[in-house]
Amino acid sequence: MRKLFIAGNWKMNKTATEAAQLVSALVKKVEGLSDKVTMAVCPPFTSLDRIAPLLKGTGVDLGAQNLSDKASGAYTGETSAAMLLDLGVKYVIIGHSERRQYYAETDELVSKKAKFALGAGLLPIVCIGETLKEREANKTSHVITTQLKGSLAGLNAEEMHKVTIAYEPVWAIGTGKTASPDQAQEVHALIRKLLTDAFGKAVADKVIVQYGGSVKADNAKELMAKPDIDGALVGGASLDAEGFSALIKNSIS
Ligand code: 13P
Repeated sequence: MRKLFIAGNWKMNKTATEAAQLVSALVKKVEGLSDKVTMAVCPPFTSLDRIAPLLKGTGVDLGAQNLSDKASGAYTGETSAAMLLDLGVKYVIIGHSERRQYYAETDELVSKKAKFALGAGLLPIVCIGETLKEREANKTSHVITTQLKGSLAGLNAEEMHKVTIAYEPVWAIGTGKTASPDQAQEVHALIRKLLTDAFGKAVADKVIVQYGGSVKADNAKELMAKPDIDGALVGGASLDAEGFSALIKNSIS
C-alpha cells in the first residue's frame, strides 16, 4: 500500500511575507493528517528560508521547484543542492513542463539534475507529460515512454526508490481541464509498467506517481481512488490554505 503524497507547487507566486501567512494557516488546518498522507509545499526559493521554521514538526515537508545540475561556482542565478539542503529542503521538483517549455530543459538535463539531487540527499519529483497536440496525435504513450526513460537515465533501482514521478498532462495544467480519472489511470498504469521493466516490480510497486493538472478539492477524491494514482502535484489550488487543506482531506476521505 502506497501512502498518498500531495505537494503544492506554488510556481512564481507569493512573496516571502505572503508565503509565511499561507503556511501558518495551512499547518493548522492539516494538523494530525501526516499519518495518512505525505504533504509538502514547494514555494519559490525566496520563501524557503522564511517558512522552513514554520513547518518544523508540523508534518508538512518543504520542497523546492528546481535546482542546478552543478555543485557550485560561476553559474549566475542558479541554486545548488547544498544550498537547498542547508535550508531544510527535502523534495525538489525537476523537469516541470513549464521549465521544459520556457527554459528549454531536456530529458538529459532532467536526468542530470535528478542524479545530482539524489547524490546530495534531496528527493526528486520528476515531472513528465504530453501536450494537447501530442495527445490528439495519439502520441501520449510514446511521449511518456521517451520522457520517463530519458529523465531517469542513469538511475539505479536503489536511487529510484527515492524518486517521485508526477504525471502532468500539459493541456490540463492551469486550464481547469482535468484529465478524467480513467485517462489519468491509463497513463499511470503505463508509467508503472515502464518502471517495472526498468527497475523491477519491487521498486515499481513502491514508487509514488502523482497526478498534476487542475486538481481541486472537488475532483481530488475520484482521481486518488484510481489504483496507480498515488497523490497529486497541485498548482493553483495549493495557493490558499482553505482550498488546499480541503483537497488534502478529500483525498484521504
Ligand atoms: P494546476 O494545478 O494549476 O493546474 O498546476 C498543476 C501543476 O503544474 C503542478 O505542478
